[in-house]
Amino acid sequence: PPATKIKIMSVGKHIEERVKVQGWIHRLRLQKGLAFIILRDGTGYIQCVLSGDLANAYQTLTLTIESTLSIYGTIRKLPEGKFAPGGVELAVDYYELVGLAPSGKESFTNKIQEGTDPSILMDQRHLTLRGETLSAVMKVRAALLAAIRRVYIEESVTEVTPPCMVQTQVEGGSTLFKMDYYGEEAFLTQSSQLYLETCLPALGDVYCIQESFRAEKSHTRRHLSEYTHIEAELAFVTFDDLLSHIERVITKTVQYVLEDPTAGPLVKQLNPGFVAPQLPFKRMQYIEALDWLNENGIPNEEGEKFKFGDDIAEAAERKMTDTIGVPILLTRFPVEIKSFYMKKCVDDPRVTESVDVLMPTVGEITGGSMRIEDTQELLEGFKREGIDPKSYYWFVDQRIYGTCPHGGYGLGTERILAWLCNRFTVRDCSLYPRFTGRCKP
Ligand code: 4AD
Ligand code: MG
Repeated sequence: PPATKIKIMSVGKHIEERVKVQGWIHRLRLQKGLAFIILRDGTGYIQCVLSGDLANAYQTLTLTIESTLSIYGTIRKLPEGKFAPGGVELAVDYYELVGLAPSGKESFTNKIQEGTDPSILMDQRHLTLRGETLSAVMKVRAALLAAIRRVYIEESVTEVTPPCMVQTQVEGGSTLFKMDYYGEEAFLTQSSQLYLETCLPALGDVYCIQESFRAEKSHTRRHLSEYTHIEAELAFVTFDDLLSHIERVITKTVQYVLEDPTAGPLVKQLNPGFVAPQLPFKRMQYIEALDWLNENGIPNEEGEKFKFGDDIAEAAERKMTDTIGVPILLTRFPVEIKSFYMKKCVDDPRVTESVDVLMPTVGEITGGSMRIEDTQELLEGFKREGIDPKSYYWFVDQRIYGTCPHGGYGLGTERILAWLCNRFTVRDCSLYPRFTGRCKP
């Protein structure tokens, strides 16, 4: 009988039908008169059972992990008590070998054995990606990006694509990647924020999903040299509007991921204890965080008590967030430790209308603020940071030609994923992670 070509994710719709599936041998078990193959096609896994002559054939006996096959057979629902992915198996009547992967020393399993030096595993990223965990995180990642786009559509925020090659900095000169642009100095973008701000008068509220680049000298579990930055900018909002927008976007996005038929079960598998965030998030001011840290005996970078103006570094921030155990909107950071463009609080000009979203296990996943809307004040900000405003004329014009109160934020995709999928490091949430000393494959 003819066979319908299907993807493994849809096997449930083809019970008792003859189908053709194509994919890679994920697992293999050969025994006398029977061969069990777990086939993987990127949409799922299916157990394929070969029996009789098919199982005993020389070709079957010499199959290897990661070889590719076109398999034909009938999909059978498994009786109660028998387990295989999807609760079905494929009773194989015929197959074609498409590509035979090496056996012995060069075998796939040998190349990525557990316990192998992590840097060798990173060299073999193209192979380790095929593993169940990493591929699951990448599936969740795809669902997350789709979900947040859906949320922005619902919120009437328009997607734009700003440039990656730029001549301005956003988050400090020390982490800029410099490049030679036809003889001129240029940088890889640290953030698309400034470009998003210029779009407000043309397009209204805007967002982008764009790579950002940071020459981070520090080797931490949450810093990459290149990461996927989800940024949004909103016109005519107050600081409170911005905070409630941020918590709503995060909560809805997570909800959509959990509802997704592919990604939802994967999150449960990767992170069984995951608790979806509830609105509203806990709000905490920088000053209150200092008190909390001091009361709980967590010291600053110098090993001393926290004082106003201190940066709350990664370790302290994570300890606090893990102990509190719920998402936190940490607000009102001092001017000196924040960026040149941040608006000062009217009731206390030492601090800014700024916010970091902190999640248990990861810490900061989002940074945002209201922006200075007054030209003179912005120019003072440039001066404080030692930035020559010349290259920023287009950004300053946003204030000159019809200024408005506005604010925005950036979310680190890999950090949200590390939180959602319970990964120790953001490196496990990036397809081909870039960090100090690693720019391949
Ligand atoms: O806090 P950051 O530096 O803020 C900005 O870039 C703003 N201009 C964004 C904006 O307002 N439009 O970065 C924003 C987020 C962080 O909260 C973090 O999640 C992520 O980007 N991030 C990184 N993720 C991975 N590796 C790095 N080196 C990161 N640096 C920041
Ligand atoms: Mg930040």
